[in-house]
Amino acid sequence: MPVIRRTIQVAWQLRVFFTENVFAPENSTLCDALTEAMPRKVFVVLEDSLAQSLPELEHQINHYFAVHAKPLPLVRPPLFVVGGEAAKNSLTLVTDLLSQLHRHHIDRHSYLIAIGGGALLDVAGFVAATLHRGVRLVRIPTTTLSQADSGLGLKNGLNAFGHKNIIGTFAPPCAVINDFQLLATLPARDKRCGYAEAVKMACVRDANFFADIERDASQLVAFDRVAMKKIIHRCAELNLDYLAGNGDPFETGPVHLLDFGHWAAHKIEQLSRFRITHGEAVAIGIAIDVIYSREAGLLNAGTAGRILTLLERLGFNLFADELLNTEAHQLTVLSGLEEYREHLGGQLSLPLLRDIGRTVTVHDLDLVMVTKAVHELHQRAGKAG
Ligand SMILES: NC(=O)c1ccc[n+]([C@@H]2O[C@H](COP(=O)([O-])OP(=O)(O)OC[C@H]3O[C@@H](n4cnc5c(N)ncnc54)[C@H](O)[C@@H]3O)[C@@H](O)[C@H]2O)c1
Ligand SMILES: [Zn+2]
Repeated sequence: MPVIRRTIQVAWQLRVFFTENVFAPENSTLCDALTEAMPRKVFVVLEDSLAQSLPELEHQINHYFAVHAKPLPLVRPPLFVVGGEAAKNSLTLVTDLLSQLHRHHIDRHSYLIAIGGGALLDVAGFVAATLHRGVRLVRIPTTTLSQADSGLGLKNGLNAFGHKNIIGTFAPPCAVINDFQLLATLPARDKRCGYAEAVKMACVRDANFFADIERDASQLVAFDRVAMKKIIHRCAELNLDYLAGNGDPFETGPVHLLDFGHWAAHKIEQLSRFRITHGEAVAIGIAIDVIYSREAGLLNAGTAGRILTLLERLGFNLFADELLNTEAHQLTVLSGLEEYREHLGGQLSLPLLRDIGRTVTVHDLDLVMVTKAVHELHQRAGKAG
């Protein structure tokens, strides 16, 4: 049978800029990132909770684009939208945004600038990827987790049919701008959440980074600026290294290293009806997979203990009542494994730990051992309490 084959190269430079006060008139980071010979329309979406805690931000954004309007005309003042997980749980925000962008004649060469947490960035990313099959997206993440992790990569996601991120696309942003100043209004709980993704990254990729987090744990708990900036920067760098290396950016391969701890995390978020945040669920998911790695004889007990202790020192609760929910005489959380298997296309491939920074892939988990890991966390929480 005749076949025509051509290889299409898709090269993309991921750029994450670090700055403070991105909308100060003298700050050229955004303009430099979007250097344009001809004017490009700009539409800004701003997370409501941030706009409320930082009322001057709207004015700053309007002023910034008034000063820089020639190459970057703002088509309307920033649109306030409600973020958080609820934004991902229905298609309402997606359709609202699509119709607003369409009404303002946003085209493929225009910029959608999304300012908010990981959930809002996921929705905006989906909208940017689908309108005209792709308008230019600039992410300005405003949580620790999105600056260190979720705001940097190619993915976006919406929750539907009782599953996390079951709808979504792979579409890289044109630029990401990490403004540490925007984290100032973040509640302590959300400041902490990003630390879980940093511990995950350190566990699967970088033992030195893990040791750095251990050393800085007291400062991180106190949300010390220097320590937080350092952890965000290193985690962002490791994410980009991973994607730009052989990190399988479109996740076509069998193993997704950065999903360590996530099969359980996504299920825990869903079981708690999102009372437990993504970062908090990731901390518990890591704990389950660490105990499993130890029980499977892969990871020594001392190292497993170090990881659990670090998560606790950072302020994470490694147990949630929802973990004991049962269905047909087994823990409901275990169905997260089946859901993850389906997400991977039928064959389960999970990273577990041999050591900090060293993973091993397994294709099955023993449900009895996972159940024991959950009970161990229950017991540990009891002792801690
Ligand atoms: N696309 C990806 O690759 C990827 C990767 C990891 C996680 N995620 C997703 O990211 C989401 C979690 O992101 P998150 O941890 O940023 O949570 P989030 O977006 O839910 O934000 C947490 C809370 O902080 C508020 N908020 C955001 N910025 C604020 C600020 N500066 N000041 C005050 N309040 C602020 C939000 O309204 C929300 O209530 C999850 O939906 C997760 O699935 C996506
Ligand atoms: Zn995550």
